[in-house]
Amino acid sequence: MSSTDTADEHVNAEWWRQAVVYQIYPRSFADSDGDGLGDVRGIISRVPYLRELAVDAVWLSPFYPSALADGGYDVDDYRNVDPRLGSLDDFDHMVASLHAAGIKIFVDIVPNHSSNRHEWFQAALASPEGSPERDRYLFRDGRGEHGELPPNDWPSHFGPSAWTRTTNADGTPGQWYLHLFAPEQPDFNWDNPDVEADFIRTLRFWSDRGVDGFRIDVAHALKKDMSEPYKPVPTIGIMSDYPIDGSHPLFDRDDLYEVYRSWRAVFNEYDPPRVAVAEAMVPVERRVNYARADTLGQAFNFDLLGTPWRADEFRSTIARSLELAHSTESSSTWTLSNHDIVRHATRFGLPNETHLDTWLLTNGTEPPVDHEQATRRARAAAMLLLALPGSVYLYQGEELGLLEVADLPVEALQDPIWLRDAGARKGRDGARVPLPWTPEAPGYGFTTGTAHLPMPSWFADFAVESQRGEAGSTLELYRDALHARRELQTSEGLTWLDHSDNVLWFRRENGWNSLTNFGAESIVAPVGEVILASAPIAGDVVPAESTIWFRS
Ligand code: GLC
Repeated sequence: MSSTDTADEHVNAEWWRQAVVYQIYPRSFADSDGDGLGDVRGIISRVPYLRELAVDAVWLSPFYPSALADGGYDVDDYRNVDPRLGSLDDFDHMVASLHAAGIKIFVDIVPNHSSNRHEWFQAALASPEGSPERDRYLFRDGRGEHGELPPNDWPSHFGPSAWTRTTNADGTPGQWYLHLFAPEQPDFNWDNPDVEADFIRTLRFWSDRGVDGFRIDVAHALKKDMSEPYKPVPTIGIMSDYPIDGSHPLFDRDDLYEVYRSWRAVFNEYDPPRVAVAEAMVPVERRVNYARADTLGQAFNFDLLGTPWRADEFRSTIARSLELAHSTESSSTWTLSNHDIVRHATRFGLPNETHLDTWLLTNGTEPPVDHEQATRRARAAAMLLLALPGSVYLYQGEELGLLEVADLPVEALQDPIWLRDAGARKGRDGARVPLPWTPEAPGYGFTTGTAHLPMPSWFADFAVESQRGEAGSTLELYRDALHARRELQTSEGLTWLDHSDNVLWFRRENGWNSLTNFGAESIVAPVGEVILASAPIAGDVVPAESTIWFRS
């Protein structure tokens, strides 16, 4: 083998470090058969779109058989495709089409919990207390004279208790089982070797089918301290409440990393090694443990989601993220939106302190969204992120500037956050409404039937066909930025340059500059040869809330 071959292989194995990964929420991407749910053939039909957009990889949220109690994150069978979405043959065909277009694929692995319809959970329910079948999950006796109280008061992410009581075959009330999410999502017992072995099998199953990487759902929760007396868990989902010494009974325990080391050994059996990114909702100093080369290799960085729109705040968040990633020899990830949060093209038009759950309960009216500001900032932020070293995770529809559908009628809501806690939180459906491909109502090119979540009439203006070829559209901006990024991509260094308070300016090693004016007024800046701008520019004048890429 020549040295060039070796170098190429090296580059290939490191493809993930600065990849642009496009998240597909399969049920809302493209529907090929008119049943109102997106499907695998729908994705295949849109591969040319993804290629034109110039993304390096796609990440598919779950497409496995599921009752959709939590949008597919309640998995019935980890090694199959939901028949409503297609078949394994369709899946293989999709992988081949993506690969032929030069696009890699990540699938979502949901290891903390299965669905309650999973054959193991059904077997557990049908088996006696203390049986090996029950030991794959976390069954416990209730408290109280007749076991009528849950084993403890641990909360679930989706509202009230993390425990649900079972009913025995003879109709009498039985044991309780733990679910950190919905009751339809029983948590696995990760101290049971069957569970470990089965996930290794799943990782191999998809790797053998050509999958290039994995997104690991709730990667911080698998291992639990279930010893009695149970340790208190007063809050859930508030990362700043979690200790940083691995002592929380449910999250980010030190013995977790052993699981990921064994997964790494599997990933490294492949050539190129399979890659992984952790969804680890843990304090930043602990995030690195998921991103080490001997564990998952990379972890999501959600820090910019909570960063106020200020140059100094963005700069310190970015600098810290780069430093942390560097400390593990990983690369940083950047993201503004995903299927779990209000879309950023809307968020950026709300005051920083807006409580999004409360705002959603007003159907997105109070406070009102400043759409012009939101669009300006969303475009500027996208270009800023795309210029940073590391990989960028885009969420389907953000390339269209798509807004949150904040006024979905409550009858249409599917999210367990709403269903479990009705009236308290509307949940995440407003970010999961299917994509508009054409301006034609009612299906907007997504479906010929009835979309599983209603698509509002204003989607017409955001449709792919309404923006394609339109100078200045958000779709064209993303496309130009992604193509340019491919050409400009360079080593992972970055130099900060100073200008004025409202400006964030950095230069990559090949003279690729990105300058963002966070201020509400335009400024004059020494822009050299302009490559791309998020707003129309004239000479050296950088408009308010815009990003410019230029060479110097
Ligand atoms: C992750 C997913 C979210 C899901 C939860 C439970 O946070 O992103 O959509 O509800 O895990 O699986």
